[in-house]
Amino acid sequence: MTTKIFTTKQIKKAGELIKRGELVAFPTETVYGLGANALDSEAVKKIFFAKGRPSDNPLIVHISDISDLCQIAKISESKKGLVNKVIKKFWPGPLTIILPKTAKVPFETSGGLKTVAIRMPRNKIAIDLIKYSGCPIAAPSANISGKPSGTRFPDVFDDFNGKIAGIIKSKNCEIGLESTVVDLTIKQPVLLRAGGVSFEELKKVMPDLKIVTNPKTKITKSPGMKYKHYSPNAKIILFEFSAKHKISDYAKKLKSDNKKFKIILSRKNNDLAKNLFKIFRQCDKENIEYILIGAVEEKGIGLALMNRIQKASTKIIF
Ligand code: TXA
Ligand code: MG
Repeated sequence: MTTKIFTTKQIKKAGELIKRGELVAFPTETVYGLGANALDSEAVKKIFFAKGRPSDNPLIVHISDISDLCQIAKISESKKGLVNKVIKKFWPGPLTIILPKTAKVPFETSGGLKTVAIRMPRNKIAIDLIKYSGCPIAAPSANISGKPSGTRFPDVFDDFNGKIAGIIKSKNCEIGLESTVVDLTIKQPVLLRAGGVSFEELKKVMPDLKIVTNPKTKITKSPGMKYKHYSPNAKIILFEFSAKHKISDYAKKLKSDNKKFKIILSRKNNDLAKNLFKIFRQCDKENIEYILIGAVEEKGIGLALMNRIQKASTKIIF
């Protein structure tokens, strides 16, 4: 298949491909998405095939207008107040909410679940693509399943050139980590995945919000959490705060063993978030065997950063 590369001035053409049931990768403020018509089960199946993604891992449905929410999700009277408050504060933006799905959303999109994940991105290109497509767009992160998410056009091109109908070529993603996922289907809202909107910000609007994303608790409420994720080929060794002083000795040992390694230390959290997946992919290209990385404080975007790093790590040193 020849993959068409669209400039940001050709979004209308890209939208026509989505309309025809094809796949188009596009930028969002978090990571690039691999999009298809969310209401077309045949189109959605192509996403799972292109990524090599297990079919029970549900997709996020992206909308361009809040008024589209009611065709995708059912909102009970008792939840209306909370849902309105949350989307008024965080949409458009990097927050995904889980709600009961309507019959319009095929089970292919929801991974067989009766609930659906929905997000209104704030990236203008993503919004325009949804508008030109004339339908909500189901999109997981644009990467081969299990590999680091694509945050730059060249990464998406590497993974999908020749496999999908189109890619919109745009700037690097602003945040660099995926959206925050919050389950609103149960009485007490649950944070299923840390991401672009911080836990602290969410707590201001949902004081009873619970966290269950710590990989050590092994909770698999969000189907995607049971799969290995975000991994480069290199072995990642995470040094907790208490062990950061051991990095240099570890590096010396690797050097004497003639191993190729990279050390990631002391950057601003926002900067590391923006570059983490890019660095992982770069390490693969350079055949790096070990990545030694220092823990960051789990505040703001730091919670999502540590979640991604822990999931990718083969060893954690305390
Ligand atoms: O920032 C993002 O969220 C990006 C951009 C493209 O929007 N998308 C993204 O999609 O990261 P994906 O498929 O890589 O991650 C979606 C996560 C998965 O962990 C999935 O299991 C979870 O959301 N999810 C989707 N639908 C769900 C549902 N109904 N219930 C629980 N978890 C759900
Ligand atoms: Mg993903």
